[in-house]
Amino acid sequence: MTSHNVDYQKILNQINQEYIDQPRSGKVASYIPELAKVPSTKYGMHLYDLEGNNYSFGDSKERFSIQSISKVFTLSLAMKAMGDKLWNRVGVEPSGDPFNSLSQLENDSGIPRNPFINAGALVVADVLVSSFSNAKAALLTFLREITGNQEIDFDPVVAASEQSEGYRNYAIVNYLKSFGNIENDVEEVLDFYFHQCSIAMSCKELANAFIIFANNGTTIGSEREFLTGRQVKRVNALMQTCGFYDEAGEFSFEVGLPGKSGVGGGIVAVHPDRFAVAVWSPPLNPKGNSALGMASLERLTTLTGFSIF
Ligand code: DON
Repeated sequence: MTSHNVDYQKILNQINQEYIDQPRSGKVASYIPELAKVPSTKYGMHLYDLEGNNYSFGDSKERFSIQSISKVFTLSLAMKAMGDKLWNRVGVEPSGDPFNSLSQLENDSGIPRNPFINAGALVVADVLVSSFSNAKAALLTFLREITGNQEIDFDPVVAASEQSEGYRNYAIVNYLKSFGNIENDVEEVLDFYFHQCSIAMSCKELANAFIIFANNGTTIGSEREFLTGRQVKRVNALMQTCGFYDEAGEFSFEVGLPGKSGVGGGIVAVHPDRFAVAVWSPPLNPKGNSALGMASLERLTTLTGFSIF
């Protein structure tokens, strides 16, 4: 069955109808004070296919805080900047631990298990601070180029809000530095990290940005290659095995696509050679992933028959 046989809009409408009036389970993240202000009822989804078609429902055009979804973009940039040397500083194994855990770092001598847990993303942030004279500008340039959208930006209020309560990330980066796995000043690394997490994007913009991971590293339409096929294979493998922290197995089991979540309630997933899809619903399950987002993506792969397994 090709995507031409599947009516994506009809399937999205069905998912919306099934869930829009259901009571939301889970809790909106409150450890970043600004995120606690986002209404729990927000719900949107956007699917962008390789033919360039757009399908959506609900609050799919409203921007929200992408949080850990940004780790996919920073990993991509660090792979381009550092090549295979990156893997001397961060591993490629699922951690089976919560995203903000410090517990494995001692036994692992400061080499984080993977680039999507906070410890790994902070090493990646350090790599970018070392690689660019202005890492924040380089990240925005990358995002604006892959999407063709010049408006994508940081939300300085969210970045400051996270910094004000960021004790655990301060602890992680200091601990990494004690092992020699942070080159730069800890404040500079954290400033970059809090900014990358604060990026505001809609489901439509995220699906658009992630289409390169469904298309061998190349944008559609303009056909610009940002990553090699080998790099995309690796990013997708890491999303599949580590994108949902200690719920990566469950996401593979239920949804069956590579993806990445954020505590703003967003999830993006890709079907290589078919589509990129983003969903947003702020209440999180106990593992820190959007409860309704996961359920909606499970329905998508069930109703379309399109998972990678
Ligand atoms: O480091 C933090 O705690 C947040 N800026 C990002 C965490 C996040 O999104 C984890 N994902 N589900």
